[in-house]
Amino acid sequence: MPKEKPELSEAMRKKIAGKTFVKNPIQGTKFTIAISSAKGGVGKSTFATNIALALKKVGCKVGLLDADIYGPSIPKMFDINEKPQSDGKSLSPIVKYDIQCMSIGFLADQQTPMIWRGPMVTSAIKTFTQKVLWKDLDFIIVDMPPGTGDTQLTFSQEIKMDGAIIVSTPQEVALLDVKRGIKMFDKLGVKVLGLVDNMSYFTGDDGKKYKIFGEGGVERTAKEFNKDFLGEIPINPEVGKYGDLGIPIVEKNSNHEISKIYLSLAQKIKDLYI
Ligand SMILES: Nc1ncnc2c1ncn2[C@@H]1O[C@H](COP(=O)(O)OP(=O)(O)OP(=O)(O)O)[C@@H](O)[C@H]1O
Ligand SMILES: [Mg+2]
Repeated sequence: MPKEKPELSEAMRKKIAGKTFVKNPIQGTKFTIAISSAKGGVGKSTFATNIALALKKVGCKVGLLDADIYGPSIPKMFDINEKPQSDGKSLSPIVKYDIQCMSIGFLADQQTPMIWRGPMVTSAIKTFTQKVLWKDLDFIIVDMPPGTGDTQLTFSQEIKMDGAIIVSTPQEVALLDVKRGIKMFDKLGVKVLGLVDNMSYFTGDDGKKYKIFGEGGVERTAKEFNKDFLGEIPINPEVGKYGDLGIPIVEKNSNHEISKIYLSLAQKIKDLYI
């Protein structure tokens, strides 16, 4: 039997142990929601961009904060190539598709690898949450990096987070990491709104659904941890195509079957908070 990874690393346990934290809200928004997963490449950024756009389409004012300091995706997925304006003290978000956006990728050359130490990551996040002039927002959607590291800790301990949505694919290895992610948020007092099963199946030309990565694992995990299951998003090549072109599917075509899933989820989130 392979040994299950410990739910939290020793280093993280030490960082959390015995500390109390003052959680500050991000100024300029009513609610802050993290899009997370412990595993990389499961579709967090795709989900974050599309749910931000879907929330806009159901009538909310939305910001998108790219918290992936090592591998920012928002500049590419929203096709933003300009630099934010600054008066030396604060930064203005870049507005695209009516969404206020901020990403480390707006400030650094995209081709250059980001070499950061932990404290630098924390300070970049503080800048994004304290020095950006977010304005009149209902929601800030935070696109988290993979893992349960410094970024997740900084957000959960120092910022008032109103919820976290955990995105996963159905493979067992992804689910193991999801369990770790849920435990981290539970421990840090961030409410997990629910789990999303992304890339859950592919519909072939014959109309059959192919469950390429296994079946039902995300929903089972949600049940096991007493969290809501927020639904399945199938694999659809147009999701990747439009993400790469910088116009996510919800913005490109709000009648697309994938967009409809995002829009109904956005309505649920709106109803929950507003
Ligand atoms: N439902 C989907 N159908 C087809 N492709 C998808 C779907 N969801 C995500 N993808 C594709 O999967 C790839 C990984 O997605 P994405 O970058 O959003 O993952 P991530 O979890 O943010 O990754 P990282 O951990 O590196 O930040 C992208 O090429 C994206 O277009
Ligand atoms: Mg990402």
